Amino acid sequence: KHQSLCIFVIGASGDLAKKKTYPSLYDLFEHDFLPPHTIIVGYARSKKSDDEFRAFIGGYLKAKDEAKKQAFLKMCVYRAGAYDSASDVGAVSKEMALLEAATGFAIKNRLFYFAIPPNVFVPIGTSIKASALTTEGWNRLIVEKPFGHDLASFSELSRDMGALFSEDEIYRIDHYLGKEMVQNLMLLRFANNTFEPLWNRNYISSVMITFKEDIGTQGRGGYFDAYGIIRDVMQNHLLQVLSLVAMEPPVRAAGANYSNFVRDEKVKVLECIDPLSLANTVTGQYVGNDKEVGYLDDPTVPAGSVTPTFATVVMNIKNARWDGVPFIMKAGKALNERKVEVRIQFKPAPGATHMFPGVDIPRNELVLRLQPQEAVYMKTNVKSPGLSTKALASELDLTYHERYADTYLPDAYTRLVLDVLRGKQATFVRDDELKAAWKIFTPLLNEIEEKKIAPLPYAFGSRGPKESDELIKKFGYEFHSGTYTYTRKGSA
Ligand code: BG6
Repeated sequence: KHQSLCIFVIGASGDLAKKKTYPSLYDLFEHDFLPPHTIIVGYARSKKSDDEFRAFIGGYLKAKDEAKKQAFLKMCVYRAGAYDSASDVGAVSKEMALLEAATGFAIKNRLFYFAIPPNVFVPIGTSIKASALTTEGWNRLIVEKPFGHDLASFSELSRDMGALFSEDEIYRIDHYLGKEMVQNLMLLRFANNTFEPLWNRNYISSVMITFKEDIGTQGRGGYFDAYGIIRDVMQNHLLQVLSLVAMEPPVRAAGANYSNFVRDEKVKVLECIDPLSLANTVTGQYVGNDKEVGYLDDPTVPAGSVTPTFATVVMNIKNARWDGVPFIMKAGKALNERKVEVRIQFKPAPGATHMFPGVDIPRNELVLRLQPQEAVYMKTNVKSPGLSTKALASELDLTYHERYADTYLPDAYTRLVLDVLRGKQATFVRDDELKAAWKIFTPLLNEIEEKKIAPLPYAFGSRGPKESDELIKKFGYEFHSGTYTYTRKGSA
């Protein structure tokens, strides 16, 4: 409490700052999570007065209380300068130092939020290091993906950033780590005696992590085209989810040093995954239908691009717990629905088909739905009620908006920025995790690029290329239709 906080939002006039950074800072302020003496200084190249900046950013804040919003905006100032100029950055730093001194607090913390593309990380990082660090409190740095393009570019960025800041000052955001259901994983896995004993190759037949969006690139194609779906969501978001699903229990998941205990286990499990190969990969690219335009029709996408907007990959984790269990990762834009989930399919109950001859017995599945609307449900076989002896897959269901109707579920960014203020690094990606993640994906990405593998076309609004279903089936995933439909009561 008796510490001042100065937040430098670098790239304050950009897309990320207005859509995520400022709204999450405001969310923290509205819920009284920012220290009373907080100053937020936006920094970018374009010239704007404080009032112009406040008017610009104010439009993106969803405020319940107008007076609070005005109070927040009063804390926000804006200064223009060059990223590679230590004197520009230094001038802002000196001005902030006067405000910090005026609080009378001995401890003066500084948070630098990099809402900028990675090509300016090092120039601004160098300027900050030369002229804007506090010597009377902590310095923390929030950085956003992309963290490199492949193993080599990541290693270079990591080396350059590592020369400027220490690992415990750098908070690499992967916003999937801030989602409720992802944060729930550790408690669900390790605080229930009903799951952990089954959480291995003896009982689980496959794990599928699915990311589906029902929109295309929508004018963001220029950015997307340089990355593709594998880099955009798989190498980062979905692999983070996978590592939490698959890792061994950490020494501690709360208390002293827990951040590194958790991240140590994530790195360990990633190190057990072989690099991916084309043989177990399907890639696709969406084409238009009668209502929607195709990927190549996006004017920001280069003509003839072979960037995948859909991919399915299969991984094997070669350790005692998982060897032989396919971890299937599927992600795509412009599909039939918007949904992100983890589906853990169990092996058939031994002897059940003998005991119930002629009865079709669906597999048990534990499903964690990340969005929309968080839910955990277990598909469990029960006798179809009444005179029939049919097995019916029914759900043991925890749907958050029904069970915890009035709970405040903050946005992923809000939780993560709060973790930074509290110095909790567990929900941020460590350097060696990314290195391991790039090792898994880089050979596949190179192969796709070198061989110019053409993605399979799929229609906007479809389930993706049928070859993806064939691949998934080949790895033993059993799809049961008809017996079970999950109804989302009251949801959009
Ligand atoms: C971003 C990707 O990191 O994550 C986007 O760049 C993607 O392409 C987004 O749409 C998905 O995030 P969320 O929170 O909407 O699932």
